[in-house]
Amino acid sequence: MVVVRIMHRVLVYLLSACLALFSTPGSAEDLDDLVNRCEICHGKDGNSGLPIFPSISGLSYEGFRYTMDEYRENRRIAIEFQRPGEPETVMINIARQLSDAEVEALARYFSERPYIPIRQKFDPVLASRGAILHERQCEQCHLQNGTKPGDDAPILAGQWMPYLRLQIKNILSGKRLVSRRMSTRLRKLNQEDIEALLNFYASVS
Ligand code: HEC
Ligand code: HEC
Repeated sequence: MVVVRIMHRVLVYLLSACLALFSTPGSAEDLDDLVNRCEICHGKDGNSGLPIFPSISGLSYEGFRYTMDEYRENRRIAIEFQRPGEPETVMINIARQLSDAEVEALARYFSERPYIPIRQKFDPVLASRGAILHERQCEQCHLQNGTKPGDDAPILAGQWMPYLRLQIKNILSGKRLVSRRMSTRLRKLNQEDIEALLNFYASVS
């Protein structure tokens, strides 16, 4: 009886080991290679050193998967740029080449890295106006002054200001599709409100 139970355990163990093998990325090296590819643009541990590349360590596991699906399903445009020696340069194509298992592994990896808010220049007067707007309009989903990711809402505090400015522009022009609750809020703001919010997010760390 005991032997049978042990055999059963061994079989279950072997089966799960096989399943793990077949769900790519198959090995730690494969994940390392993928992560290295992402870090070329998004920086070490997903903390970006360049204003056109967002930091990606601030997304939750769910938020990360959700974002990759937006690229894969054409709900979001991505800027096109050329980097010499880089095989693929547009985020949409990069996302489309990944399997579901790879997206999941990357989501787990980056959501577990520490997020380092980017230090940027900001206008303190605009930032304090932005704080009030944030509290009224955005805090409900972009929690704790935008420092804490929600299930699908990303961290805004300490993210690159030029990147966020471009995303707001894309959302308002309909090039990036977001939930109506989110786009309705943005549409109520004027250009100065948007700058105030951007300066606020740059001021929080
Ligand atoms: C050649 C540069 C480059 C590489 C390599 C790259 N990305 Fe990106 N990524 C970008 C750019 C640029 C954006 C912003 C695109 C936009 O929406 O305009 C972006 C956006 C993202 C976002 C959205 C962030 C947010 O806050 O919404 C995620 C997630 C992401 N990339 C993940 C990855 C992963 C995972 C990899 C590796 C498999 C990767 N990227 C490789 C350039 C790159
Ligand atoms: C009802 C919830 C909700 C509210 C309220 C909301 N957002 Fe969002 N926001 C989201 C979600 C969810 C996303 C993820 C985007 C998606 O759907 O592509 C997001 C994404 C964003 C992004 C893109 C960030 C990135 O990394 O690409 C910006 C910028 C943003 N929100 C700003 C704001 C501002 C400013 C306000 C207040 C005026 C606001 N949001 C209010 C839910 C919300």
